[in-house]
Amino acid sequence: MEYTRISDANVITKQYMDSILFEQRLIDSKVASTECELFGEKWSMPVVTPAFSHLGNYSGRELNGLEEYSQAARDLNMLNFCGMMENDMFGRIAKINPKTIRIVKPYADNGKVRDQMEYAKEVGAFGIGMDIDHIFGETGYDVVIGEEMAAQSSEMIASYIETYKLPFTVKGVLSVEDAVKCAELGAKAIIVSHHHGRLPYAIPPMMILPEIKEALAGKDVEIIVDCGIESGSDVYKALALGADAAALGRSMLPSLEKDGVPGVEKFFTKVKDELRFVMSATGFEKPEQIDDSALYL
Ligand SMILES: Cc1cc2nc3c(=O)[nH]c(=O)nc-3n(C[C@H](O)[C@H](O)[C@H](O)COP(=O)(O)O)c2cc1C
Repeated sequence: MEYTRISDANVITKQYMDSILFEQRLIDSKVASTECELFGEKWSMPVVTPAFSHLGNYSGRELNGLEEYSQAARDLNMLNFCGMMENDMFGRIAKINPKTIRIVKPYADNGKVRDQMEYAKEVGAFGIGMDIDHIFGETGYDVVIGEEMAAQSSEMIASYIETYKLPFTVKGVLSVEDAVKCAELGAKAIIVSHHHGRLPYAIPPMMILPEIKEALAGKDVEIIVDCGIESGSDVYKALALGADAAALGRSMLPSLEKDGVPGVEKFFTKVKDELRFVMSATGFEKPEQIDDSALYL
């Protein structure tokens, strides 16, 4: 979609994130650990890979980009996500990294939605989900690479959760209303996101996070956030404002395209190191302890 300059949610999101500053708390502070728990399992950092699709084979390497970042996630003990793809590609990814959550598109062909979720279960996916922010496009329902999308009702989402009995992630939540619906329907996670600016003037995910966090207090729902997150400092801000983890997407791409698996591993290790540094310098030893008390908004 084409935007006017000021309506671009990517620009607005970046400006908001960059306006959040840290104070230092050094006395009595120790070196922090980034280890965390998500979906009841332990991970090396509260950072997850993005639900990506359609990445190429870079420089004629053996694996394509989706397989390469999935392998890097496995090596680093990070939770892995992937997006729109056919079953054969998902099968390859699940073999490389079974700890992958498959985000299925809201296809108009509901048989295809169910077939992809069923297949994910069959090949041992860690979880399934749907990016609800691709339902609508400029001319009505969205068409993604020639495939039509459709509205998704509460009943449909509840049925995916009930039928496949895998942890279910709803991606593209950007209101308290949708977040509460997800919790009521039994989703195990939401990704607070505007899908790199699909909606003009979309609220920055980090701006709405505190309200969503409060609305989901006491509910067993992981809150993940994405859009414009590029560094350990950005991840820290997300955690401080209420997220359990952050996904880094486009910021990973240059490392992936240039150096494949080792490039992605180096990128995420740098993110982890910066997160650890900011945690240490603001007096938080563990990710789950981080609150907004060291932020200046
Ligand atoms: C190349 C590319 C492919 C993507 N494919 C999907 C997809 O299939 N499903 C999905 O839910 N999101 C998809 N996304 C959106 C990302 O998961 C993410 O929400 C978005 O890029 C914002 O995060 P970022 O600013 O860190 O990139 C894609 C994004 C890119 C750049």
